[in-house]
Amino acid sequence: MEQDNLLKKIIAHAKTYGFVYPSSEIYNGLQSFYDYGPYGVALKKNIQNIWWKTMTQWKENIVGIDTAIGMHPKVWQSSGHVDHFHDILVDNLDSQKRYRVDILIEQHAEILIQKKQSKTAENLLKSMQYAIQTKNYDQLHTLLTKNNIQCPVAKSAHWTPVRAFNLMFQTKTGALNEEANTLYLRPETAQGIFVNFLNVQKSTRMKIPFGIAQIGKAFRNEIIARQFVFRMREFEQMEMQFFVKPGTELQWFDYWQEQRLQWYVHLGIDPQNLKVKPHDHLAHYANKAVDINYDFPFGTKEIEGIHSRTDFDLQNHAQATKKKLQYFDAREQKNYTPYVVETSVGCDRLFLMVLCNAYQQEINNEKNRLYLQLPILLAPIKAAILPLVKKDGLPEKAKKIFDDLKYHYKVHYDASQSIGKRYTRQDLIGTPYCMTVDYETLINDTITIRDRDTLKQERIHITKIAQWLQSKIKKI
Ligand code: GAP
Repeated sequence: MEQDNLLKKIIAHAKTYGFVYPSSEIYNGLQSFYDYGPYGVALKKNIQNIWWKTMTQWKENIVGIDTAIGMHPKVWQSSGHVDHFHDILVDNLDSQKRYRVDILIEQHAEILIQKKQSKTAENLLKSMQYAIQTKNYDQLHTLLTKNNIQCPVAKSAHWTPVRAFNLMFQTKTGALNEEANTLYLRPETAQGIFVNFLNVQKSTRMKIPFGIAQIGKAFRNEIIARQFVFRMREFEQMEMQFFVKPGTELQWFDYWQEQRLQWYVHLGIDPQNLKVKPHDHLAHYANKAVDINYDFPFGTKEIEGIHSRTDFDLQNHAQATKKKLQYFDAREQKNYTPYVVETSVGCDRLFLMVLCNAYQQEINNEKNRLYLQLPILLAPIKAAILPLVKKDGLPEKAKKIFDDLKYHYKVHYDASQSIGKRYTRQDLIGTPYCMTVDYETLINDTITIRDRDTLKQERIHITKIAQWLQSKIKKI
């Protein structure tokens, strides 16, 4: 309950202080679509920039790419999305609530495990997997009723037939509404990388092992979409496909799992809130997969998936197009289809994780203080430049400091209202430093710098500000 309230507070904070608004709000919003406000877009871009730099600048063997959202419809047949990218859903007849069947069954299995009935739980999960793989939806319905798996709201097991919904949005290209013109909005960015594997490899002469990274929009018609920007219908992914020699993929998998975990820790995420969860049931094309999960206020949930996808995608595209999607290994003097280790993270989920991690409610001297403890690398504004009062030449002096800094750092000039109110405003959007120009500045060219987290103040000379700020922005 308290955690539920915490999420509500974070959502309200995000809206009030310009991070995230419901989409088309004046029309009462559009479910599972969100708009990023001025501070939200700055925070999101900072997250993306750091990921992009980590992948394509600090690693010499990864290059970036930006592919179109619209792809040839056959891509999605080869990738398996047309046939398999479904949510399997059921409605409770008493409460009219809709659920994902796999989640209902998995939750029931958890309860069985807690009751020390692990064998029954294991059998139930196996039956579910088999029914999903063979698309036997009647069997899934039987599993629900036979095991008396109840709707958490109605506490009854009166279920409608089980149905599968494909998650891909469809649209049409061209003037004619013919089947041939069906276009899917991509549900993942990864396929844009796979179909460009040869283009990138040939045009950049990359040698295996090498990676291709991409940041871009993805679309999924999530039927049960809740929890703010955690599950959206339009979202952004940051994906990297790492192409390796077959047989070396599990070593690279371990490497990337470690790299990605460390990345979050360097970003200031409390490691105690990060959990690695191996997949209980591997997809038929994967030979290893883990999720990196974060302890959100609404439960421990996936933020990133690391998958060893074998050569499934390249082989399928090669077969469908009759093109040879292979790599010539000069050292070994042979051609082979590379295996792929994928790191795939949702930018919006990272955004929510960063916000939850930063949200601080403190009671100081009986007074509540609310602030976002954002790391300087991610903070939308790195420092606020504040004249103590709006007279006696202080604004001019402060404006000069602002103008000198603004080409190098995102800084903010604010002269309105009391200094206390201005500090509070910056705390609420996570600005790490407030730099105040006061009467002493006129005498000796020093300013005070207030630290958002410790509230300590120090004085430094104005010629040292840029250098001082740079020292705080450490490379992750
Ligand atoms: N190419 C692999 C792939 O797409 P996924 O587990 O389906 O794998 C990867 O998605 C990541 O994308 C997830 O870990 C999550 O962070 C993000 N993601 C997936 N669906 C999302 C949604 N509806 N809203 C926001 N983020 C989503």
